[in-house]
Amino acid sequence: MLDKDIEKTLISQEELRDIIASLGQTITRDYHDKLPILLGLLKGCVPFMSDLLKELDFHLEIAFMNVSSYHGGITSSGDVKIDMDLDTPVKDRHVLITEDIVDSGRTIKAVVELLEYRGAKSVEVVTLMDKPSGRIVDLKPKYVGKTIPKAFVVGYGLDFEEKYRNLPYVGLLKPDVYTNKE
Ligand code: IMP
Repeated sequence: MLDKDIEKTLISQEELRDIIASLGQTITRDYHDKLPILLGLLKGCVPFMSDLLKELDFHLEIAFMNVSSYHGGITSSGDVKIDMDLDTPVKDRHVLITEDIVDSGRTIKAVVELLEYRGAKSVEVVTLMDKPSGRIVDLKPKYVGKTIPKAFVVGYGLDFEEKYRNLPYVGLLKPDVYTNKE
């Protein structure tokens, strides 16, 4: 049913599995002795973080934050708001922020600065997708699953007006879905 609104698949389920397995190996190599906090940014991180966790073969803790920068539309509003803070102290801890996509970079940059201010030992970012062409602030994620062109994508956690997060792959939405809304 959701398929009919998708113009094109950008990352298939098979490719997602390969990307995440490879990220898992690299992160296991870098973090196996650090007991990091894997910090998921809700809600988009859910499928990615869930699959990534299963590829991480070492001790870690998980935590979540809900930070919003888009307000239902397809362009960035520019303001970042903490809707739910994490419940774990980050002082002297290694934190790996887990994000679905980095576009302007504003959301992540604000979170990185907050965690550094709170005394985290290190703060790095793993993102499933990176849209460097949309970057407005200086932010380079350490781990990137796939670099994609500047387009609006949905699925595998990413939404359009809270829908399509449950699509099992990443795709481009047909333009009429967002231009012909009632
Ligand atoms: P940034 O602050 O501009 O980097 O925006 C990051 C957040 O915007 C992501 O966590 C997503 O929630 C949302 N976002 C950015 N690009 C897309 C997209 O193509 N589709 C859906 N959500 C997006």
